[in-house]
Amino acid sequence: MSSNAIDRLEPANPRHIAIIMDGNGRWAQKRLLPRAFGHQAGVKAVRKIVEYCTEQKVEVLTLFAFSSENWRRPKEEVSLLMSLFMATLQREINILDRNNIRLRFIGDRSAFSSQLQNKMTEGETQTQANDALTLVIAVNYGGHWDMCQAFRKVLEKISTGELENPDINEQLINQHLSTSDLPDPDLFIRTGGEQRVSNFMLWQLAYTEMYFTPTLWPDFDQHALAEAIKSFKSRQRRFGHTGEQVLNKSVTL
Ligand code: IPE
Ligand code: IPE
Ligand code: MG
Repeated sequence: MSSNAIDRLEPANPRHIAIIMDGNGRWAQKRLLPRAFGHQAGVKAVRKIVEYCTEQKVEVLTLFAFSSENWRRPKEEVSLLMSLFMATLQREINILDRNNIRLRFIGDRSAFSSQLQNKMTEGETQTQANDALTLVIAVNYGGHWDMCQAFRKVLEKISTGELENPDINEQLINQHLSTSDLPDPDLFIRTGGEQRVSNFMLWQLAYTEMYFTPTLWPDFDQHALAEAIKSFKSRQRRFGHTGEQVLNKSVTL
């Protein structure tokens, strides 16, 4: 095969990586430590992965930090997670800003304390003009919530007259999701060994490549992410076409 042909087949890096950071509790339990230690170790892993994604020129990294179902945990754990979230924002916003990273949150923030909501807004405002990595943190996020809020927004626009008799199509729904300005994830990663989506980005994952690893989140490092990206690049994405159509480049993906 000529080097040109190899170039032609060289797959692109994922533009958008979405990760379910799972396994913090088990990481701590394995060490006979309280679960809180696992969550703290998880924050360190976030730092490394953000740094690596920036170096690799990934456009968007979405991290699932707290699901709309995680309120069901013991209240001590929920309150520990909220304090850790606040402390992490206080410490990291300036660092993210210095690294030209744009911070975004998706999820229903109305359930959070006003201090936390203000900090989130401050982080978004301070970093909104940055144009290296976009770091999206999904907090109190659920795929079902995202679709419900999209439909509510459409309904609201119909009632105010901003939208008249809209055609309910994919574009309309996309435009009202919390990720309306972002490309869909190319690569989904779940650490911690479970093979489920747990109500994460249900609409947006329609054609995402899935990667599950038993590695617990606090142990997930640059090498582990490089391995996931390598697996992604070895796959042929077809979006409904045949493998031949994709190889012959007779279709645009
Ligand atoms: C993921 O780790 C972090 C959050 C859900 C906040 P877990 O806390 O779910 O860890 P395991 O699954 O119990 O090991
Ligand atoms: C999913 O992890 C949510 C986050 C990582 C934030 P969980 O550990 O809560 O998922 P389930 O409940 O085991 O599916
Ligand atoms: Mg878990």
